[in-house]
Amino acid sequence: MVADQKVQAPLVILPPTIAWFGGAEGQLLLLDTTRLPHEHVVLSLHDMHGVADAIRRLAVRGAPAIGVAAAYGLYLGVRQQRPMPGALLDTAREVAAMFLATRPTAINLAWALDRCLARLRRESSLAALFDEAQRIHQEDEVCCHRIGECGADLIRDGMHILTHCNTGRLATSGDGTALAVMFAAARRGRTFSVLAGETRPLLQGSRLTALELLAAGIPVQVLPDSAAAGLIARGQVDLAIVGADRIAKNGDCANKVGTYGIALACAAHQIPFVVAAPWSTFDPDLEHGSQIPIEERAESEVLNVAGLPMAPDGVHARNPAFDVTPCHLITAIVTDRGLLRPPFGLAIKALR
Ligand code: MRU
Repeated sequence: MVADQKVQAPLVILPPTIAWFGGAEGQLLLLDTTRLPHEHVVLSLHDMHGVADAIRRLAVRGAPAIGVAAAYGLYLGVRQQRPMPGALLDTAREVAAMFLATRPTAINLAWALDRCLARLRRESSLAALFDEAQRIHQEDEVCCHRIGECGADLIRDGMHILTHCNTGRLATSGDGTALAVMFAAARRGRTFSVLAGETRPLLQGSRLTALELLAAGIPVQVLPDSAAAGLIARGQVDLAIVGADRIAKNGDCANKVGTYGIALACAAHQIPFVVAAPWSTFDPDLEHGSQIPIEERAESEVLNVAGLPMAPDGVHARNPAFDVTPCHLITAIVTDRGLLRPPFGLAIKALR
């Protein structure tokens, strides 16, 4: 373990994950996270199809980030079509429907689109749509900071923390969710180390989380996903913190596939399992996690590694991108509105 090792933060200066360049006639800049850690490629997008494609192929990913990107994408789509004032809302609804179909699990996408449409219903102008997208962007940054501050004290000196997927600056407009908690703890002077599950098949853990923690000077080791349960059983994990893509009314949480297995192992060995997410990730309409739509992605993502086939020709694969952790396995949910403890149904209702 590397908890007490001094880590020299390397000079990793990443462009912002999401930025808007220029005024109302400007463009959306997205850091293409599929090219990380080795290449820093910034996509400059002027139209909705470019943004939708970036969301579908995970150039921009992570629940909060795709919500922000979709809000800007909606603005770009309506701007492109220049509808008459009376047709603005209908045009926006059509563009929003296209974005809604890009990735089904993270509720932040639908939440951001709904917010933009609601604003247009109150104020039918392109300027209002642009303003709403910018607000969603700025608020996401603030939420990340609040999540970090809310959860920082869960981390104590010397802890070995397990995380899964990427929940940091590369998944949000700010410090992230689960990683924001770690960044805030580090700012408070806590020393701890992180095990980052590599997150097959797209390796968000090894490519992105390791990069972010390395840049922040927080000791990190990458872990094959299949090693997590064994390390938990052997007492080598003190706390697991993950993000979420959608949280049902009872507290069931959908997150990157593999999260449920980690939660089961934590429960079996009395290790706290914590979820960190902004309020925009809570679905006010779903009673239980079983109602959360789970994205199935292309089997080629599983069958190939770095473009090389890893299974015999003709073999098929399953590729569910998320799974659902039932609320009884979750110790706490860190939000921008405060720390929730079980029973989550009541705690969520109280905050709403
Ligand atoms: O498929 P991805 O990379 O978009 O999945 C991301 C996750 O599962 C994250 O854990 C979640 O969105 C929270 S990000 C702050």
